[in-house]
Amino acid sequence: MPRRSPRRATENAAHPQTRKAAPRDQSGGRGGALLLGVIVALGAAALFWFRPVPSATVVDVAVPALSAQAERGAAAFAANCTACHGANAAGSESGPPLVHRIYEPSHHADGSFHIAVRQGVRAHHWGFGDMPPQPHVTNAEVADIVAYVRELQHANGIR
Ligand code: HEC
Repeated sequence: MPRRSPRRATENAAHPQTRKAAPRDQSGGRGGALLLGVIVALGAAALFWFRPVPSATVVDVAVPALSAQAERGAAAFAANCTACHGANAAGSESGPPLVHRIYEPSHHADGSFHIAVRQGVRAHHWGFGDMPPQPHVTNAEVADIVAYVRELQHANGIR
């Protein structure tokens, strides 16, 4: 270490400007710290907003006038599915939106809802984990829920 200081002294001598600029540098340093703070805050905000899963998967759902069957389905859905799939099947922190292209009828036919409720679902499309079976939900209720989800999908451009 003793070798370093004479070297630095030489550098200062070679660049006398560095010393004179020191007082101005101090205010610049405070500005720099502020800028760094702003960058850190923006970084944290970006991390928060752009977390890919699960918060980004909550979608906007327009609720149309529902048929009588879909109304029953809405009640059964609220009682059994909303905890994970969110109000209006728009998604939540615990499960994906069902008003989503992935679940359009050609990709997930009505039968897949019955299978999901009876057997549960292995996580494969999302990062929420598995869906447990819902044995307390009757087949008639699942049929109503399917009607409800299809009407929501249809009203939101998913057909
Ligand atoms: C404990 C949370 C939870 C509950 C309660 C729940 N689900 Fe799910 N469900 C999930 C998760 C998570 C997935 C996504 C799995 C994946 O693909 O990654 C899923 C996927 C599905 C799928 C897609 C199935 C497939 O073939 O990919 C359907 C349909 C479904 N749920 C319907 C329902 C219905 C109807 C109810 C209420 C009767 C319900 N879920 C209740 C968590 C839940």
